[in-house]
Amino acid sequence: MTVGIGSAADFMDNNNPDDSQAAWSDYWDGDSEDSDQALGHPTHARRLKARWESLFSDEFAARSGRVRLLDAACGTGVVAGAASRAARAFPGLDLEILLTDFAGSAVAAALAKPGLAGACGFAADAAHLPVRGASLDLVVSQFGIEYAGEGAFERVASLVAAGGALHAVVHLQDGEIYRECSENLRVLDAITELGVLSGFVGLFTAIRGGENESRVAKLAQAASAAGDRIGDVLASAQPGAARQHASRLLSDMQHVLNRPAAFRAEDIRIWADGQSANIETYRLRMASMLGAAKDEGEMEALAGQLKTSGFTDISLERFRTLDDARNIAWMLTARRDPE
Ligand SMILES: C[S@@+](CC[C@H](N)C(=O)[O-])C[C@H]1O[C@@H](n2cnc3c(N)ncnc32)[C@H](O)[C@@H]1O
Repeated sequence: MTVGIGSAADFMDNNNPDDSQAAWSDYWDGDSEDSDQALGHPTHARRLKARWESLFSDEFAARSGRVRLLDAACGTGVVAGAASRAARAFPGLDLEILLTDFAGSAVAAALAKPGLAGACGFAADAAHLPVRGASLDLVVSQFGIEYAGEGAFERVASLVAAGGALHAVVHLQDGEIYRECSENLRVLDAITELGVLSGFVGLFTAIRGGENESRVAKLAQAASAAGDRIGDVLASAQPGAARQHASRLLSDMQHVLNRPAAFRAEDIRIWADGQSANIETYRLRMASMLGAAKDEGEMEALAGQLKTSGFTDISLERFRTLDDARNIAWMLTARRDPE
């Protein structure tokens, strides 16, 4: 098995970069590994990875020679990585992987993974991928294409060649990941609305600046009231990444306030500005996930459109929790007949 292609230019017919989606780019610009804040509970991510590996094994068993695969909105290449691992069991297969995501830093992180060493990739909006139509055997995406807005699925699907397939895991409205994102957003909104970071900086600056006792006491009281209200939100929040993030933030602030003389006001201001920016982009990511999630009617309409555009074998399933009690995501497969 080889994983790789000579040049991204093989796939391209134009280039259409865009500069929105800053929240995702910021996330991948940081040191985020895979999608810990992006895919809800780690169990979902692990189970989805296993599901992709088995799906790729089935696809590869039915193919030989060159297989061209696109992971659209790839993030750090979790799905392409599963393809690469599954392909090892098929020595006759020549797997060529193309990775695209709006965030160039995510594509770069994916390309740096040892399992994706021979892949190629570039930054692009999934709704306007500069890739030749009907040129790919497998087009896959996990929680990706739905971010690219109206019409993106049809555009991405048009890249599937005869005999090829589209496989997409899609955010499901009111499912488990949706619920976790809503809960994260509630915690992050509370931090923002209560002005926790600005209150902390005001208090710290007053202490370090030697302001009079009554002013410091007033600021301390306001900070403590905000802290109590955040405490209430955290106590009622489901365990999740944002709750952990907020608890760590509160404990870091407490640590600084316990030893104010150990920190410089300027450093604390810079730190707090960084934390505020993180929280804002985290909020935007959570809100964008909720906005991207699809309900049953939308998914059925999408399946209908794919049928109209020449796909013959279309299946729409719900990926569910282990106990089969709750929905996590949609799994959409659409195949084109061989010529
Ligand atoms: C929830 S993450 C999923 C990443 C990856 N597929 C995974 O499963 O780990 C969503 C991804 O979509 C990307 N994205 C958001 N809007 C996009 C767009 N319009 N075009 C392409 N990628 C986009 C983000 O940068 C992010 O990497």
